[in-house]
Amino acid sequence: MERWLAGEGAALDEVAATVRAWIPYAVDSPLYSRLAAGIAEDPEMLRVVAGVRAMPPMTLLLGAVQLLLREDDALAAWYPRLAGEARPPDDAAYVAFRDFALARRDEVEAITATRRTQTNEVRRCAVLMPAVARAIAAQGWDGPVHAVDVGASAGLCLLLDRLAYRYGDVAVGDGPLTLDAELRGGLAAPRAVPELATRTGLDLEPVDLDDPAAAAWLEALVWPEHVARLERLRAAIALHRATPISMVAGDAVETLPRVAAALPEGPLVVWHSIAVYQLTEAQQDALDDAVEAVASTRPTVRVAFEPSDGGASDVRIGLRPRAATPVARAHHHGGWIAAV
Ligand SMILES: C[S@@+](CC[C@H](N)C(=O)[O-])C[C@H]1O[C@@H](n2cnc3c(N)ncnc32)[C@H](O)[C@@H]1O
Repeated sequence: MERWLAGEGAALDEVAATVRAWIPYAVDSPLYSRLAAGIAEDPEMLRVVAGVRAMPPMTLLLGAVQLLLREDDALAAWYPRLAGEARPPDDAAYVAFRDFALARRDEVEAITATRRTQTNEVRRCAVLMPAVARAIAAQGWDGPVHAVDVGASAGLCLLLDRLAYRYGDVAVGDGPLTLDAELRGGLAAPRAVPELATRTGLDLEPVDLDDPAAAAWLEALVWPEHVARLERLRAAIALHRATPISMVAGDAVETLPRVAAALPEGPLVVWHSIAVYQLTEAQQDALDDAVEAVASTRPTVRVAFEPSDGGASDVRIGLRPRAATPVARAHHHGGWIAAV
């Protein structure tokens, strides 16, 4: 995903290319697609993007603006979550956006310098759950499994076994929050939700849901049109508070071996969703080695749900998933899963 990050000292046309490469990722946010198209042609805004060091800079910049935005700001008229009847994205939206971002540039830069992209989308469980069920079934395991989520953010995807799911006409599982996802290309719905013995999230900097500023940043990372996502996030946070989930701070490559060694006996599922793309190739190799080392000590499977080209993500099962053929493609936020 280096294509989203031009790097320090990059020429503005390289930064513009990274902004354009990000646009397909924002496919279901017409406002963000329009704003990104404007930024790609705007040298002053490109300089702001070039100053964002975390990945992907566009997500950080747009999140920072949304965090600062209030209902009475002129720009709010284009944000459905703030305006109700929002104006359609147009040239005036871009002008209002750049005026806001440049007027509040110091605050925007302070946010992008200290926050990271930690979007925690619980609906990704609708993609992870069938893949985890498939990986477990392939091993013939019966009974609960330990779950470790790499790059877990606040740990909302560790609610996987506490949720209800609806795939078209098929309902699976039981829980206070129901996730809907469309199955495409003849994929069969899973028959049951796997049972988790323990739930552990690894993150460089776990999001502390008891910290109102951290929870507000998670909300700011939800795109402006996605009002239902915002409601789902709030419902998932409430369920998280009632669910035993351990979060471990640190680099996953370093923490995974000791976390796995400390778990009680039993099979282990390591999964990650839209997280490992933030690691360099060398770090991803090191993570593969770490998972293999864990698998030599206890029964282990791994499910990877990570961005690929073309505005969707791939789902792979394997201890070194980049070497495995995808078992499915899926929407980044879990709205659909397609056979490959
Ligand atoms: C975009 S969030 C995804 C969160 C969650 N998996 C989901 O699907 O909703 C990516 C997370 O990966 C974490 N991360 C990035 N590099 C990491 C590393 N080396 N070790 C552990 N976590 C990492 C980030 O801090 C961030 O919270």
